[in-house]
Amino acid sequence: MQILDGKIVSQAVKDDLIQKLALHHAEGKKTPHLAAVLVGTNGASETYVASKVKNCAETGFKSTLIRLDENVTEEVLLENIERLNADADVDGILVQLPLPKHFNEEKIINSIHPDKDVDGFHPMNIGKMVQGLPTYIPATPYGILLMLEHYKIETSGKHAVVIGRSNIVGRPMSILLSRNAYPGNCTVTVCHSRTKNLKEICLQADIIVAALGIAEFLKADMVKEGAVVIDVGITRVPDASKKSGFALKGDVDFADVAPKCSYITPVPGGVGLMTIAALLMNTFHASAQR
Ligand code: GUN
Repeated sequence: MQILDGKIVSQAVKDDLIQKLALHHAEGKKTPHLAAVLVGTNGASETYVASKVKNCAETGFKSTLIRLDENVTEEVLLENIERLNADADVDGILVQLPLPKHFNEEKIINSIHPDKDVDGFHPMNIGKMVQGLPTYIPATPYGILLMLEHYKIETSGKHAVVIGRSNIVGRPMSILLSRNAYPGNCTVTVCHSRTKNLKEICLQADIIVAALGIAEFLKADMVKEGAVVIDVGITRVPDASKKSGFALKGDVDFADVAPKCSYITPVPGGVGLMTIAALLMNTFHASAQR
């Protein structure tokens, strides 16, 4: 069993970006600039956005964090996005999800200019991704592809089972793994909360992507010997022994499943770090194409 180490791979991606950025600067090109919008004080969102901002700084990118009160109107959020759309220095915009309940997420995502939509959530960019055209690939699936590529994991002809059908992870992941490219060319099964005989389907998988958001859901008796297991979950579970009061748990019961795997991602230290590296890649491309 080999660990797919998000720390090593994300650092390799960032080192590559640092080199690319030096070349860009030598050619007189601008510094990539990411604008992140955070509405409210959701603890997990705070952590993710802080990490995105920190990683921008470490890579030499510029970042702007716009914090809005939980109770702002949709109009105020839309005005902020409009301002960022019009700002020639801003290359990439992301609105951290989930938004408080009174927002229409679809309307907000659709208001981001597709050229600056580094999350790859705008319908225009999703449409391009589905057709295999160059575009921003949503950061978590993109990060997983980068990880599979780094470890040269064979995907062609493999049966990939994606558990979860969210717009952020499961849906795009299933499309990307089935495309005619590397990593890809998998036969893909998408499982979700209504799937019957999930265990039997998982047992057929050469590659499992667990993205359902239930801590330690995937157990050893659901995994074939030698499978590649990618864990997208990061659920906070109460843990009095931690200073923060919680521990991060993946969707995979790591101790149980790992001995059966050829490769497995840990949590933390796996996909989460790759998500940020992929976001930086998208932001660099957003900047380079302008
Ligand atoms: N919430 C969870 N994952 C993501 C992500 O990739 N982008 C944004 N904007 N919000 C998220």
